[in-house]
Amino acid sequence: MDSATTQRLLISLAATLCLILIHSPPVTSANENPTAYEVLQDYNFPVGLLPEGVLGYELNSTTGKFVAYLNDTCSFSEGAYQLKYLSTIKGNISNGKLDSLEGVSVKFFHVWMNIVEILRRGNDIDFSVGVGKAWFPIEYFEESPQCGCGMNCGRRQARKLLTNPSVSP
Ligand SMILES: *[C@@H]1O[C@H](CO)[C@@H](O)[C@H](O)[C@H]1NC(C)=O
Ligand SMILES: *[C@@H]1O[C@H](CO)[C@@H](O)[C@H](O)[C@H]1NC(C)=O
Ligand SMILES: *[C@@H]1O[C@H](CO)[C@@H](O)[C@H](O)[C@H]1NC(C)=O
Repeated sequence: MDSATTQRLLISLAATLCLILIHSPPVTSANENPTAYEVLQDYNFPVGLLPEGVLGYELNSTTGKFVAYLNDTCSFSEGAYQLKYLSTIKGNISNGKLDSLEGVSVKFFHVWMNIVEILRRGNDIDFSVGVGKAWFPIEYFEESPQCGCGMNCGRRQARKLLTNPSVSP
C-alpha cells in the first residue's frame, strides 16, 4: 500500500469508529448508575426501606459497605411507632441482608432504639434492634415513606406498618 492509500484507509476507519461511537447507546444507562432505591432492589430489598429524598450514596460493591445521604434528618410516624433516619446512614449490604446499620432508629415503647440489622426472610422483612426483633410483610415497603408524614401524606393510604407487628424478644 502506498502512503496515500494508507491514509485514506485510516481516515475511513476513523470515520467508521466515529459513526459507531455516535450510534452506540449512551454509556450511562440507568443500570450503570442506579439510584439508592435501585441498589436496594438489586440486593433483594423493597424501596420503602428508604424514605424519599436520598440525595446520593457510596457503595463498595466488593465489601457491601455503603453510606447513603439524605437531605436532612427524617422522621415520621408509622402507626404507634416513630422512625427516624439521620442524614447519613451507613451499613453493610449483601443479598437480603443489611447489617452494621447506623443512623436508623425506631421509637418503641417510648424508647429510641437503633435498628442494627434488616433481613429479608421470604416475604417478610425482619428488623433487629439488638434486644429483639420485629417483622413485617414485604408489601408494607412497596413505596418510600415521605419525611414528616410517612405514608400519611394525603395522597396515599396509610400503611398498616408497625401497627400490629410480630415481635419476639
Ligand atoms: C472496596 O473495599 C476494599 C476493601 O476495603 C478496597 O480494597 C477497595 O479499594 C474498595 N473499592 C472501592 C471501589 O472503593
Ligand atoms: C462489613 O462487611 C465486610 C465484608 O463482608 C466485613 O468484613 C465487615 O466486618 C463488615 N463490617 C461490620 C462492622 O460488620
Ligand atoms: C431538602 O428538603 C427540604 C424540605 O423537604 C426542601 O425544601 C429542600 O429543597 C431540600 N433540599 C435539597 C437539596 O433537596
